[in-house]
Amino acid sequence: MVDRSALRLVEGSVVLTPLREADAPALLDLARESRDDIYPWMRWTDGFHSLDGAAARIAEWLSEWNRQQGYAFAAWDTDSGAMIGGGSLGQFNAKNRFCNLAYWVRTSARGRGIGPTITRAVSRFGFEQLGLLRIEILMEPENTASRRVAEKSGAQREGILRNRILNLGGPKTALLYSLIPSDLSPTTSPLSGPGQVQSPAPAPLSREP
Ligand SMILES: CC(C)(COP(=O)(O)OP(=O)(O)OC[C@H]1O[C@@H](n2cnc3c(N)ncnc32)[C@H](O)[C@@H]1OP(=O)(O)O)[C@@H](O)C(=O)NCCC(=O)NCCS
Repeated sequence: MVDRSALRLVEGSVVLTPLREADAPALLDLARESRDDIYPWMRWTDGFHSLDGAAARIAEWLSEWNRQQGYAFAAWDTDSGAMIGGGSLGQFNAKNRFCNLAYWVRTSARGRGIGPTITRAVSRFGFEQLGLLRIEILMEPENTASRRVAEKSGAQREGILRNRILNLGGPKTALLYSLIPSDLSPTTSPLSGPGQVQSPAPAPLSREP
């Protein structure tokens, strides 16, 4: 298992750390501000009306991490110290070493390229620490902001998948984008240079889903 305690992902001006119990107040604050923008596209804000709700969601993410079924990170602004977004890897296919990436940015931080920065940082972690060969990004076609994040991150559009996302209102068609390790060369970064995964030791993905 990848040790959470010393792990920091650094990409441009954004630092990401694994979500911890102590992050519940910051996560609740982010969700309260951004719920109307995030909820139509992602369901993790369900039940986010209290500190207990935020703590319960973090506990689920931690449990997934411990079972090597999910890796959720919070993104922090290095100047203000505010939680500005997050990203998570999940839905692992261990046999073929790929998974799904999700990302979100708080409403007041949108439009500053944070989404693509989170995408690159978390994907770099997946490739370098988990030994992934491919990361998939799925979104509803109407989610223009998410499509732009995928494109600006260097992901390639691969197709349209019917009934691929179960979201509000039932099954939805999805656009599929993917990243592979060579998509993340330092030259794709619009920011200050290549990102870093700061962690003691790489750990290969070892678990069947
Ligand atoms: C998708 C999301 C992560 C984008 O994050 P971001 O940090 O704003 O990303 P960027 O700054 O690179 O902007 C990406 C696009 O968002 C749109 N955008 C920019 N500023 C915006 C704002 N203030 N409000 C709404 N959308 C905005 C633009 O289409 C932009 O594309 P462009 O750069 O070509 O103009 C964010 O909008 C979000 O959290 N959305 C809700 C959750 C979600 O849909 N996640 C993806 C699920 S598949």
